[in-house]
Amino acid sequence: APRPLIAPSILSADFARLGAEIEAVAGTSGDPETRADWVHVDVMDAHFVPNLTLGLPVVQSLLDSTDVPIDCHLMIENPDRWAPGYAEAGAYNVTVHAEAATDPVKIAKDLRAAGAKAGLSLKPGTRLDDHLDSLKHYDTLLIMSVEPGFGGQSFMPEVLDKVRAAKRMVRTGHLNVLVEIDGGINADTIEQAAEAGVDCFVAGSAVYGADDPGRAVAALRASAAG
Ligand code: DX5
Ligand code: ZN
Repeated sequence: APRPLIAPSILSADFARLGAEIEAVAGTSGDPETRADWVHVDVMDAHFVPNLTLGLPVVQSLLDSTDVPIDCHLMIENPDRWAPGYAEAGAYNVTVHAEAATDPVKIAKDLRAAGAKAGLSLKPGTRLDDHLDSLKHYDTLLIMSVEPGFGGQSFMPEVLDKVRAAKRMVRTGHLNVLVEIDGGINADTIEQAAEAGVDCFVAGSAVYGADDPGRAVAALRASAAG
C-alpha cells in the first residue's frame, strides 16, 4: 500500500503562533517520520458552518512562510466565488463543499487552471452517489467524519461506507483521486479508516493536543500503515 499521508489541522493549534505550530510538524530537521505530508487549514465563514476561523490573508502569510503543501478546506458559502483565490495564492490543494457549491466541477476546473489540486468534500449526511460520475474532475475527495465546524468531535464510523464506495470507483475507473478523511481521527480510529482505504488523514486535536506534535504525526502514520 502507498505511504499514508498525514495532514495535521491547525484548527487545534495556537493561532497566536501559527508559524511555529506549522514548523513543529513541517520542520526539515529530525526524523522524517515526524514530518507532516500536508498541513490542513480550515477556513470557516460563520455561515456555512457556525464557527469562524481565518481566510485568504492568513493563508497567504502561511504560504509565504513554509514549503509544506497547504491543504485548504473551505467551509464557506459561495466557494464558486472564493475558492480560486486560494489556488492563485499557491495552496497545494483546495477543497470545497458539495453542499455549498453551485457548480463544483466548474470550481475544480478553475482550481486546476490556477495550478492547484481540486478537492470535493461531503458532510456526513451527504450522499456520494450524486458525485460519483464527476469524481474524475477532482484530485481529492474529503469525506467528513464529523459535522464540520469544530475540532475535537467523535469519529462517525458510518461514513466509511462512502470511503469504500469511492475507492471502488477510483479502482474501477483508474482515477487519480485521493480519499481524505477529516474529523475524530486519532490513535483509536485511524486503523479502521485505513482499512476502509483512506489515503490521507486529517488530524487536529490528536496532533496539536499531543505533547510532541511531530511524534503524534509519526505514530498516526505508523498506525495507518498497519
Ligand atoms: C472540522 C475540521 C477539521 C478539524 C478536525 O470541521 O474540518 O479539520 O480540525 O479536528 P479533529 O481532528 O480534532 O476532529
Ligand atoms: Zn478540515
